[in-house]
Amino acid sequence: MLLSRGPGLLLTSLLGITTVIVEASVTWTATPLNPPSVPLAVRTPYLSAWLAQGSGQPLNGVWPTFWTGQIVGWAGFIRVDGTAYNFLGAPTLNSGVLKATQKSFKYTATQSTFVLSAGPVDLTANFLSPVEPTDFVKQSLPFSYLALSVASTDGNAHSVQVYTDISAEWVSGDNSLTANWSTSTTGGIITHQVQLENQQVFAEVADHTQYGSAFYSIQNTANTTFQSGQDIVVRGAFTSNGKLPNTQDTNFRAISNNWPVFGLSRDLGTVKSAGPVVFSVGHVRDPAIQYIVAGGALQNRSSFFFTQFASATAAIASFLPGYQTALASANALDAKISSDATAISSDYAAIVELSVRQALAACELTVGKDSSGKFNTSDVMYFMKEISSDGNVNTVDVIFPAWPIFLYLNPTLGKLLLEPLFQYQASGQYPNPWSIHDMGSSYPKALGHNDGKDEAMPVEESGNMLIMTLSYTQKTGDTSLITSYSKLLDQWTQFLIQDSLIPANQLSTDDFAGTLANQTNLAIKGTIGIKAMSKIETLLGNSATAANYSSIATSFSPQIVGFATGTGSNGLKHFELSYGNPSTWGLTYNMLADKLLGTNVFPQQLFDQQSAWYQTVAQAFGVPLDTRHTYTKSDWQMWTAAMSTNNATRDLLISGVKNYIASGVNSVPFSDWYETTNAVSQGFQARPVAGGHLALLVV
Ligand SMILES: *[C@@H]1O[C@H](CO)[C@@H](O)[C@H](O)[C@H]1NC(C)=O
Ligand SMILES: *[C@@H]1O[C@H](CO)[C@@H](O)[C@H](O)[C@H]1NC(C)=O
Ligand SMILES: *[C@@H]1O[C@H](CO)[C@@H](O)[C@H](O)[C@H]1NC(C)=O
Ligand SMILES: *[C@@H]1O[C@H](CO)[C@@H](O)[C@H](O)[C@H]1NC(C)=O
Ligand SMILES: *[C@@H]1O[C@H](CO)[C@@H](O)[C@H](O)[C@H]1NC(C)=O
Ligand SMILES: *[C@@H]1O[C@H](CO)[C@@H](O)[C@H](O)[C@H]1NC(C)=O
Ligand SMILES: *[C@@H]1O[C@H](CO)[C@@H](O)[C@H](O)[C@H]1NC(C)=O
Repeated sequence: MLLSRGPGLLLTSLLGITTVIVEASVTWTATPLNPPSVPLAVRTPYLSAWLAQGSGQPLNGVWPTFWTGQIVGWAGFIRVDGTAYNFLGAPTLNSGVLKATQKSFKYTATQSTFVLSAGPVDLTANFLSPVEPTDFVKQSLPFSYLALSVASTDGNAHSVQVYTDISAEWVSGDNSLTANWSTSTTGGIITHQVQLENQQVFAEVADHTQYGSAFYSIQNTANTTFQSGQDIVVRGAFTSNGKLPNTQDTNFRAISNNWPVFGLSRDLGTVKSAGPVVFSVGHVRDPAIQYIVAGGALQNRSSFFFTQFASATAAIASFLPGYQTALASANALDAKISSDATAISSDYAAIVELSVRQALAACELTVGKDSSGKFNTSDVMYFMKEISSDGNVNTVDVIFPAWPIFLYLNPTLGKLLLEPLFQYQASGQYPNPWSIHDMGSSYPKALGHNDGKDEAMPVEESGNMLIMTLSYTQKTGDTSLITSYSKLLDQWTQFLIQDSLIPANQLSTDDFAGTLANQTNLAIKGTIGIKAMSKIETLLGNSATAANYSSIATSFSPQIVGFATGTGSNGLKHFELSYGNPSTWGLTYNMLADKLLGTNVFPQQLFDQQSAWYQTVAQAFGVPLDTRHTYTKSDWQMWTAAMSTNNATRDLLISGVKNYIASGVNSVPFSDWYETTNAVSQGFQARPVAGGHLALLVV
């Protein structure tokens, strides 16, 4: 059978072996593969620039885009012996200006690196978005690097100049709005700063923030020049002259009105090799988050780095010259992640390495102030935007799938994601007996849900909170969450005791599939949650309560097996999607928590049973989420792979996701929701749940 799957892609399925071949439009080597979209500068919900590759676009084939697909202008040229080549972005080229030719592309957990040839010189463009999980100042800096290096390929020295710019598209989702800007050359750094003239604090348009400023910087060493002005003017100045006139355009105007751009350039002289020439791009806003505290008061919270740096300018003065240190740190983390993931398989490493920047860039570390207006460095909270699905703040069932990346990188980050949820619910303002779904409907406003009308996922979220809290406590030995919030944890346990064995008609995290009564996977989660509380009670010294909850969970488990076991036409047993529907099944990813926590509610044979079953129901690009549809979720497949008791099932799930990201079918940042029959993504993109792809690294 030979199936054509759209431009550039052939999919052959022979004797159950599926091979995906991306055809000749890709002329460069890709390591490990060409993903749907390449992270370029991906650090916060609002610093999110990607290269949408689809079935194969080089760095200069299309404009970089925000995670939504809206262009964020970022252009680059190199001039070699008087000939200019475009290497980044897709600007209109003046006559005589050529396109550099992409030779290779590589991604690691923190870096995307391209090599392009420009006549007799190779240009290496390294896009580094640091991941510093234990350094809260560095992790909270909303900046990324672009570093350019050149090397002659013909043995001769050449006259080389390099140039890049950003447009004002980095400061709004509405290009008809007026921006203003300025360029500073103090302190040995040239920085262009650009922002909306009318700032709207905490507002978004098309998922872009509407306040704060974008910054584009370079160190002001010899032969470095700048210019702000119309796109064709500034780029034309560089491609003609190899330098910029150090002038500023003060005709402030709409983002799309004669497209103002902010150019930086350096003349490297006549060289055989040179670099790196380092640029930093960032977007800073203050306050970063609005958070509801006791009594309904609204607190402004700042990015954590402000505890160290008084201004964005001061932060850049540390960040920009810190490239070599940041690179060394990134290389070490990349090597660790690569080695840990490759121990499972190289396909798995390709998935994990594409997930790290995406997951962390949905999150921001913040600090509060005390009553005297000083930063209180004991008051740290981590906020997550539920990117693309609905923009909620700290959604419990989005933190939950992403949980493995926090456990792996630094479990304290997990605790700091739970803190806002705990503190708000402990303040008594949330009326429901179960756990809240999220901290606010619209990032960055964490305003709670005092009316109790958040999206109800009662068993899902109560179980998630209990499981994550015990997971954090076990991993770190820090009992502060369980001692501070034992009352809430017990309240949610009471709810689970009532509603986990026979779960009422309700949503699970997979809300796009609709409500359902008696969902087996929810019963599994709730029961593990009750057992998790038993373990928490043991840690708190309450042995009688611990024994009670343990016996409740232990009594639920065989009843769930009785309600929910079906037998397929192949004679294999499996869990049903919902009780009493033997033709149904689903990914019972919640069982992973039983392994992770050592709760041992479900016997080993059930893990074997599920692992064997999934091998019989796989499609070309993985195992469907459940029998209602043939779509699936990449995060839950990696959770299921992590709970699998045989390598064949594990590897089947991994290769499904790997073939999906390598298929060339999509061009959006790693979508966790896609169709298993043809790899087409289903609308989610750039979501933090990609952190769940690290599940196999934490069990
Ligand atoms: C940009 O506009 C704002 C609001 O009018 C103003 O406060 C700020 O000084 C302006 N910046 C520049 C560089 O003109
Ligand atoms: C500055 O540019 C000039 C002209 O291209 C070149 O001769 C010189 O080597 C450059 N200096 C440095 C430090 O790169
Ligand atoms: C929070 O910040 C906004 C925007 O700067 C400001 O208008 C508001 O007064 C601040 N609120 C508090 C409580 O400081
Ligand atoms: C499963 O794969 C791991 C590598 O991830 C390997 O160490 C182990 O031996 C494999 N088990 C079997 C039974 O092949
Ligand atoms: C600082 O924050 C911690 C943690 O929220 C809190 O317990 C403490 O009271 C705060 N200190 C001040 C001076 O507000
Ligand atoms: C849920 O399952 C229980 C146990 O099998 C059954 O008694 C009940 O009728 C089911 N409820 C629904 C709505 O299907
Ligand atoms: C066990 O917990 C349940 C639910 O809270 C409670 O109804 C029951 O009385 C407890 N049993 C014992 C023996 O404490």
